[in-house]
Amino acid sequence: MKTYDGVELPSFLYGTAWKKDATKDLVIQAVDAGFTAIDTANQLVHYSEAGVGDALLTLAKKGVTRDKLFLQTKFTSVGGQRGNTPYDANASITAQVQQSFESSLKHLHTDRVDSYVLHGPYYRGGLGPEDWEVWAAIEELHRAKKTRIIGISNVSAHQLAELCAKAKTKPMVVQNRCYAVTGWDHEVRAICAEHRIVYQGFSLLTANPEVLGDPRCHAIAKRVGAGPAQVVFRFAQQVGMLPLTGTTNPQHMKDDLASDRFTLTPEELETVGSMLL
Ligand SMILES: NC(=O)c1ccc[n+]([C@@H]2O[C@H](COP(=O)([O-])OP(=O)(O)OC[C@H]3O[C@@H](n4cnc5c(N)ncnc54)[C@H](OP(=O)(O)O)[C@@H]3O)[C@@H](O)[C@H]2O)c1
Repeated sequence: MKTYDGVELPSFLYGTAWKKDATKDLVIQAVDAGFTAIDTANQLVHYSEAGVGDALLTLAKKGVTRDKLFLQTKFTSVGGQRGNTPYDANASITAQVQQSFESSLKHLHTDRVDSYVLHGPYYRGGLGPEDWEVWAAIEELHRAKKTRIIGISNVSAHQLAELCAKAKTKPMVVQNRCYAVTGWDHEVRAICAEHRIVYQGFSLLTANPEVLGDPRCHAIAKRVGAGPAQVVFRFAQQVGMLPLTGTTNPQHMKDDLASDRFTLTPEELETVGSMLL
């Protein structure tokens, strides 16, 4: 999978939200299981970016050096930090992004990241002046080659279309929660397809318990000799998404990665794609 400007991306991302003190050990386990891409954020309330960094130090000693891994982190605005802001909340927004990015580099013991993502726009309706200031600061990090690609998360179709139309640099990735009831975020994925933006889907399992429990999903799982979770991940990959998993279970880490060992038929893709429509 490649971005529109030719950066190669892995086919699965290991997500590190909500892992707290277990972050370091779980990241090591995930890489041992075969993950090469890690997603985090400089948002202390939900992520331990420093725990990811600790894991990277241990992995480097085992020969898994920085260049062998794809690292993605995020800028989270003051509103998303719940009072525990890892940069000067009174600084200008441009300075906030610069400080947050520098703090991410320190946490991760690196001088660059592979992907830097705006965690979410400031408002629901459209993009406001704050979003444009953040995006310009993120574009500058990309221009300075401190991040290979840039992206946006928790974005609506309307906001993404506006960003694509007006930004100097279009996002290379979008990261959204992906619900089957919206045709698996069909509208946002259509804009991504139009602009050749890589769509990263999260909560593919936790947002879709009805799909995992559906007899049609179980029948497909039986045919391919896998579990329902793997069917959902494989569906995501085959329709062009880059899935995230946040599993804490070593067997599930292997199972999730092994989702690409089977192929769903066009009819099965249609079944899963329209299951809750
Ligand atoms: N941008 C954002 O705002 C945002 C928001 C949320 C998440 N994220 C990112 O996305 C990542 C993933 O989050 P998520 O919501 O998709 O996942 P998640 O909440 O971490 O949950 C994955 C769930 O699926 C289960 N699971 C995974 N593989 C399984 C398998 N093969 N069989 C059965 N159960 C399985 C896990 O249980 P076990 O632990 O028992 O396997 C866990 O309960 C996060 O860590 C974070 O990096 C981003």
